[in-house]
Amino acid sequence: MKPEIRTHQSLEDLSRAAAAYICEMAEGAVKERGIFTFVLSGGTTPRLLYEELTKEPYASRVDWQHTHLFWGDERCVPSDNADSNFYLAFQTLISWVNVPPSNIHRIPATIASPKAVAAEYEKTLREFFQPAARSDSSTSFPSFDLVLLGMGVDGHTASLFPGDTALEERTRWVVAVEGTSASPPVPRITLTFPVINEAKCVLFLASGSSKLKILQEIVNNPHTATYPAAHVRPSGKLLWFIDEGLA
Ligand code: 6PG
Repeated sequence: MKPEIRTHQSLEDLSRAAAAYICEMAEGAVKERGIFTFVLSGGTTPRLLYEELTKEPYASRVDWQHTHLFWGDERCVPSDNADSNFYLAFQTLISWVNVPPSNIHRIPATIASPKAVAAEYEKTLREFFQPAARSDSSTSFPSFDLVLLGMGVDGHTASLFPGDTALEERTRWVVAVEGTSASPPVPRITLTFPVINEAKCVLFLASGSSKLKILQEIVNNPHTATYPAAHVRPSGKLLWFIDEGLA
């Protein structure tokens, strides 16, 4: 499916528009299925969006009691570390809305080795999406209602970095990556493309001219572009919310 691109005048406008769109997705999901499964992204771009979601008119449009939060990736740092994607969401969103603690499915990034954490998070996801099935029996992938993603200046998304073997993963739902080329250069845990691409909707947020050339390449040559973000081709909707620095 060709991506839909929506251009906004500023990161502030982009964030407000994304908040409104997420409210629409949340209302539709809860109305149809009684639940909204929302995968959060990290980095700096979503900060304003998360803050917007705590304010009216957005906060009261989301049924937080039936909203479940997950993470697309996490750095292997303590959850109170400023580099933690959970910490970003906790400080800007979670501590301001009435989402039940049992609805927050964070990646326990420092409880064990990165590989063990990835296996643990996959187990958490399997138990959430396939409670009846044996933990490793199903080959199907979970379909999140909304996966929020960012894109790095090297075209990475989540923690799927150029040249990493994680880009080729077709079986596991969650893997660990070394993250040596990342900022910060720490091991990370990431959802894999089969899971991301099973989403009903993937929403990229991208701001700033440093990502313009990569975005143009991905949108104009979706099947030949080699950047990791180009491999996000969900069975559902694919949207890019960008600001004028990128248009
Ligand atoms: C992470 C993110 C990552 C992020 C991009 C863009 O853990 O770093 O999940 O994929 O979305 O690096 O980051 P910025 O929003 O800071 O440009």
